[in-house]
Amino acid sequence: MTGENQKIFYSLYEHERKKVEAKLSTIIKNRKPASLYGPGNYILEGGGKRLRPILVLLSAKAVKKNSSSSFYNAAIAVELLHNFTLVHDDIMDNADMRRGRTTLHKKFDISTAILAGDSLLSVAYEYLLKDCNGNAKDVLASFTKGLVEVCEGQSLDKEFELLQEVSLNEYIKMIEKKTAAMAEMCCKIGAQLGGGNEKEIKALTNFGKNIGIAFQIQDDLLDIVGDEKEFGKNVGGDLVEGKKTYLLLKALESARGEDLEKIKLIIEKKGICREEIIFYKNLYIKLGVVDEAKKEIKKYSAKALRLLNNLKHAEDREIFVWLADSLINRNK
Ligand code: IPE
Ligand code: IPE
Ligand code: MG
Ligand code: MG
Ligand code: MG
Repeated sequence: MTGENQKIFYSLYEHERKKVEAKLSTIIKNRKPASLYGPGNYILEGGGKRLRPILVLLSAKAVKKNSSSSFYNAAIAVELLHNFTLVHDDIMDNADMRRGRTTLHKKFDISTAILAGDSLLSVAYEYLLKDCNGNAKDVLASFTKGLVEVCEGQSLDKEFELLQEVSLNEYIKMIEKKTAAMAEMCCKIGAQLGGGNEKEIKALTNFGKNIGIAFQIQDDLLDIVGDEKEFGKNVGGDLVEGKKTYLLLKALESARGEDLEKIKLIIEKKGICREEIIFYKNLYIKLGVVDEAKKEIKKYSAKALRLLNNLKHAEDREIFVWLADSLINRNK
């Protein structure tokens, strides 16, 4: 891809991201009671990549017959849904930091965070309905399926924390639900709202699913190699919590002798101390699992892009190529 095209796609992304940002900032700001919406607004204000709304908008654009319509309400809806999952995820993962700020439940309290999350989910439906017309049932069904799958995936993620053995296959199935299902859903509702045909909807849905898998492995990777300021989350948090990440499972597979014993300790002790993060980071690098993760991310990203060969116009595919590439190279 030429440097010129990269610049064009970047500014397109930024243009849409800013539009989403501006709309998001007005959604619940002045609603009452402030005890509910104030905390909700706190998570929304934290920024974030706004990837999921962009997936909706780009997917709709890629199939759109009627070029004048746009689907910002649906785009807002998926971001609200995503923020709901983040707030509840941070409670479940006992996380202190999100988007470079104190997590909602630490800033306020757990009850406030649960309810703020619930309200974000409810308002998500409110916004989705604004963009649902003729095909409302299909769009609502896709959105709801995505949400059900996130809950199932999050449940498996928690279940895995307590298991001695989890296979890489089981891990992939788990992230297909907790993370990829949302990316899949965003592309699908974009394609549905845009009036795509069956083939186009299928291509974009599968693109979303595979880019979502790559995205979660990258998130697991950034927990080890990320820069805390950029990443906005505590680096090593997954190690501390004893999460079954791609890197941990790969390390269990490839380590031998003393190294293997050290890796097994993460599981036996249900996580490590903060002071040990650097040791495990170096061990992961030595075992080659950092490189293995990078390879796996590229594999799923390439698969996602191959699935887009079914799009009618080659130029519709280009921006997804750029997006997939920037996600692989992201540091947050
Ligand atoms: C974080 O999502 C949750 C995962 C599925 C890994 P993002 O990395 O998209 O978070 P924001 O929205 O940019 O903060
Ligand atoms: C996130 O997985 C999946 C969600 C449904 C939010 P993680 O627990 O790895 O996400 P982060 O790293 O906290 O953002
Ligand atoms: Mg989690
Ligand atoms: Mg988490
Ligand atoms: Mg993570």
